[in-house]
Amino acid sequence: MIAPTEISHPALWLDPKAAVGAAEREQLQSAGLQLLPVATLEDLKQGLAKARLVVIRLMGDVSLLEEVKKLTQSFGHAVPVLCRVERHNFELAIEAMRRGAYQVLAADDFSINTWRESLALAPKRTEEAKKNTQTFVFVDPNSQHLLELARRVAQTQVSALVVGPTGAGKEVLARVLHDASPRHNGPFVALNCAALPENLIEDLLFGHEKGAFTGALKEHRGLFEQAHGGTIFLDEIAEMPYHLQTKLLRVLQDRKITRLGGQTSIDLDVRLIAATNKDLREAIQNREFREDLYFRISAFKLSILPLRERQGDILPLATQFLTNFGPIDKQVEFTPRAIELLQQYSWPGNVRELQNVVQRALVLGNGELITESDLMFDQWEEKTDPRPMNVSTTSQLMSYGQREVSDAHDPELVNLSTAVKSSEYQAIMAAIQSTKNRSEAAQKLGISPRSLRYKMAQFRERGAPMMAAA
Ligand SMILES: Nc1ncnc2c1ncn2[C@@H]1O[C@H](COP(=O)(O)OP(=O)(O)OP(=O)(O)O)[C@@H](O)[C@H]1O
Ligand SMILES: [Mg+2]
Repeated sequence: MIAPTEISHPALWLDPKAAVGAAEREQLQSAGLQLLPVATLEDLKQGLAKARLVVIRLMGDVSLLEEVKKLTQSFGHAVPVLCRVERHNFELAIEAMRRGAYQVLAADDFSINTWRESLALAPKRTEEAKKNTQTFVFVDPNSQHLLELARRVAQTQVSALVVGPTGAGKEVLARVLHDASPRHNGPFVALNCAALPENLIEDLLFGHEKGAFTGALKEHRGLFEQAHGGTIFLDEIAEMPYHLQTKLLRVLQDRKITRLGGQTSIDLDVRLIAATNKDLREAIQNREFREDLYFRISAFKLSILPLRERQGDILPLATQFLTNFGPIDKQVEFTPRAIELLQQYSWPGNVRELQNVVQRALVLGNGELITESDLMFDQWEEKTDPRPMNVSTTSQLMSYGQREVSDAHDPELVNLSTAVKSSEYQAIMAAIQSTKNRSEAAQKLGISPRSLRYKMAQFRERGAPMMAAA
């Protein structure tokens, strides 16, 4: 007698030929399979969020596997697919393995041992997937449409511009575009133009020759050169200093680059994907962004919606993050009330905020279920008056890991990143109030005026009141 397995793997079960009999079902259950039978591909798609595994029966060829793989890929490719084929159909079994099935079993084999062994393999595959592959979610019809568009744009060579609010997945889309392009075997290099001082951006992008400036002891290949044969992703392109925009435009036109202090130009084969969360036309009007550069980079514009406008992505994303950050051997789940809250929330910080909320919930939850009290949103974005919190709140915050459940809705209770943001906000407001203009405020804060402008824009986008600084 084999003891029943404790771990249960929810598995979507699609068998166009026959339903599972009661005896077989019982055996599968003892092996640790929690059967979720589905009749159509549409049902399978709907169920992906709660499945650990997909089991399909192939009828003569691999076409069903291809369809299912398309679905799991648009959902995020960490859901392993097991194929059942007629006994002795070796050709089909091999073909299924080649097309990415993680295992193939004989369709009439329901033995507990076979299935238990097979399931023991599945989590390992998922663990590998966690390490090796980015799992991306495009489930909402709006996102599917965007993904489709990105795949088409990927086939062309022209520059693309990704537009969307903070944390919505601009870099993710840029990667998808690169991966779907004929350049996918080439490098993907990314630079956030807002995160660096001007002179460093120039050096990083275009490189320098030995002796180009004091301290240039060796030659340095810039990111453009490093991206040769692949894609360069410039995030927050609106933050690129004006004179570098001119240089960038020249590189895009000539497809050549000259290192700082260099004489010879180097041929380039690089595709540019730029991203911004700003309205570039407004930046053009304010003479902060070059119009000719805008025309050159925006031949294809891909707009990512805020998360609240693509409801269909919320739950699959949340489940994906649970799988990615949760325990390997157990599927943590949300209670219905928690699901409701996730769907109702307005997600001002978009996918990044959802990721934070799930990570926090995994720390706070009991390891099996995530309830509404485990969900801690980045609350202050929701408030119209994001008053900086006081010291007692901060000390409360340090112990939030061991807090009582009854604390969950304490409006004073905030997480660490909120605390950091809040003090940053406080410092910025104080500097602005006590100085004559923005450059003076920036100086006082010890950051560049550009960084200050960027930080202020981010706070403003999150709904924080920001007085206009000179
Ligand atoms: N479709 C998606 N599927 C899975 N994860 C996603 C998806 N979109 C975004 N994420 C995750 O959310 C986080 C933010 O995504 P990303 O960095 O691409 O956003 P962004 O728009 O570039 O943000 P920012 O405006 O701050 O630069 C990342 O951790 C990313 O992996
Ligand atoms: Mg980004």
